[in-house]
Amino acid sequence: MELRAPRGTSDIFSRQAGLRRHLEETAVELFGWYGYHPITTPIFERTELFTRSIGESTDIVQKEMYTFRDKSGRSLTLRPEGTAPVVRAFLEHKLVSQPLPIKLYYSGPMFRYERPQAGRSREFWQLGVEAIGSMNPAIDAETVSLMMHYLETLGLRDLELLLNSMGCSRCCPSFVKVLRAYLEEHQANLCTDCKRRVQLNPLRIFDCKKERCRGLLKEAPLITDYLCVDCKAHFAEVQSLLMSVGVEFKLEPSLVRGFDYYTKTAFEVRSPHLGAQNALGGGGRYDGLIEEFGGPPTPAIGFALGVERVILALHREGIDLPGDSTLDVFLAVVGKESKPEGFKLLDKLRKLGIATDMDYGDRSLKAQMKLADRMGALYTLFVGSEELEKGMCKIRDMKSGEQVEVAFEKIPRWLKKQIGSRKGKK
Ligand code: HAM
Repeated sequence: MELRAPRGTSDIFSRQAGLRRHLEETAVELFGWYGYHPITTPIFERTELFTRSIGESTDIVQKEMYTFRDKSGRSLTLRPEGTAPVVRAFLEHKLVSQPLPIKLYYSGPMFRYERPQAGRSREFWQLGVEAIGSMNPAIDAETVSLMMHYLETLGLRDLELLLNSMGCSRCCPSFVKVLRAYLEEHQANLCTDCKRRVQLNPLRIFDCKKERCRGLLKEAPLITDYLCVDCKAHFAEVQSLLMSVGVEFKLEPSLVRGFDYYTKTAFEVRSPHLGAQNALGGGGRYDGLIEEFGGPPTPAIGFALGVERVILALHREGIDLPGDSTLDVFLAVVGKESKPEGFKLLDKLRKLGIATDMDYGDRSLKAQMKLADRMGALYTLFVGSEELEKGMCKIRDMKSGEQVEVAFEKIPRWLKKQIGSRKGKK
């Protein structure tokens, strides 16, 4: 048996794990400022939840879902995205009776059977938000601006925000009709997949990556020319609110995201540093989805960011983020007989919230010093019979090499102060 993680998946540890934690902690704080609360939904759901919400004609449903039968024969699917599960939870727990809009955020793995490449994997993490229960354009502007605020807080600078409106159930069908007629005229030049799409859902042609089909779309009718009065006014207000808070965007009438549930505002943020997989995140309104699942008419909007792509973009922009958790103190035991006292001090420091570690291999002092260095300790504390007798310990600043002597009982306070001011300076 080959001991390797399945294709398109990866193990996350050390620096990568630290970076993810930083992304998540930043999100928890920032999303909280905008009134969001956490939600965790199952990793798998009934298959129908996704086929009905994402849409039968989408690439995700047609080609990318991890669908299986459990031992009772139920068809289940590893979630390819987080919006449909949140909507399911909203309906199941009757959250509609809460003050609306209800704002929820999530973070977790999603699964799509795609061809792995840089920035694209089969298991990937998303950080997402869903604001359910408001039609107000201010929620659209707030959602988009939260996404940009988050990415900018992480330090990203080179971002391109694309904005479009997908219309509503009144105006979108007339656009689809015109688009279908245009595509039927050019049927001969479409790829096999797109020929099928023309009949199933012509909007899905915008997902095609083939040069030939993309070329045809350059001349195709544009959704923005078919918006109804309501959708036009809504879109204009979203744009003016975004401008009022200094969020820059580019209108992109061909931005038709890969799910059938979108209505009105659709958006995507891209990074020029990511090559083909340049979308860091995206989202939009899905005003019809809750009703589609039997709930009361309830508008909603949200976005999701791809965590691996955000990390890749940070790396490519040369932004240094806190990765691994740091070790404050390495406790070096000088001579076996001092080990019990050393162990007691180790325990005391940890219980005071000072990250402390020691050697468990009875190594020589020189080897312990090497270990302290490799573990990235800020300070090394020496505990030996001489120190115990004198009631004083030597503490070495591992960066400057400076050494001081501190009385035993004053060690915790001394360390707390030094570590606090060092971390504050970062
Ligand atoms: P999405 O555009 O499919 O939207 O995914 C959001 C982000 O997830 C993408 O922009 C990308 O960064 C990341 N992503 C997608 N597929 C992969 C992959 N195979 N490997 C690595 N990263 C990937 C949604 O999922 C919608 N649910 C967003 C939303 C929320 N709309 C409304 N509310």
